[in-house]
Amino acid sequence: MKLILYFGQTGTTKKAAEMLQKQLPDSLIFDGTKKLKDYSSIDTIILGSHIHMGKLHKGFKKKMKKLAKKKLNVRYHAFIVSANANEKGKYMNLAREILPEDAYIGYFGGELDPARAKGITKMVIQECIRRLQDQNISLPQLDELAIEDFVEHI
Ligand SMILES: Cc1cc2nc3c(=O)[nH]c(=O)nc-3n(C[C@H](O)[C@H](O)[C@H](O)COP(=O)(O)O)c2cc1C
Repeated sequence: MKLILYFGQTGTTKKAAEMLQKQLPDSLIFDGTKKLKDYSSIDTIILGSHIHMGKLHKGFKKKMKKLAKKKLNVRYHAFIVSANANEKGKYMNLAREILPEDAYIGYFGGELDPARAKGITKMVIQECIRRLQDQNISLPQLDELAIEDFVEHI
């Protein structure tokens, strides 16, 4: 059984995890910041993180540290969601540095939706949208084909 752990804030990483789960028949999906006690039926763990200010979600690194200590007999893979696909290589490397060498890292695109955020987060999202529009760059979207490609590689 594959376990998909998502680490996000405004719902995109969870949505990407759900899209991935649809393509992985034998899989479970779980909020990575919550505690999961039983890993006995898991052979693969896929961690998904958003990017905030050029960094992975804090919980991602924390969870990977805890999992490494458990020395589970599982394979690890990861996916990233973010707004700026031009930086995807850099963002994927952040996960690559933490995961074992044989891990496959995917980039699933992202979303900017101010309606799903409050306060400063909402303001940052609105500012990101404004900047992209000023430069005539289309708004990010989750990439179904990238998810299919990821499934083929893991
Ligand atoms: C405070 C904040 C900082 C962000 N920083 C970055 C960034 O440095 N690079 C980037 O490509 N996207 C950045 N984004 C965009 C998010 O990665 C993108 O909206 C993603 O889909 C959010 O996933 P989530 O809804 O699961 O949190 C940022 C978004 C917010 C709200």
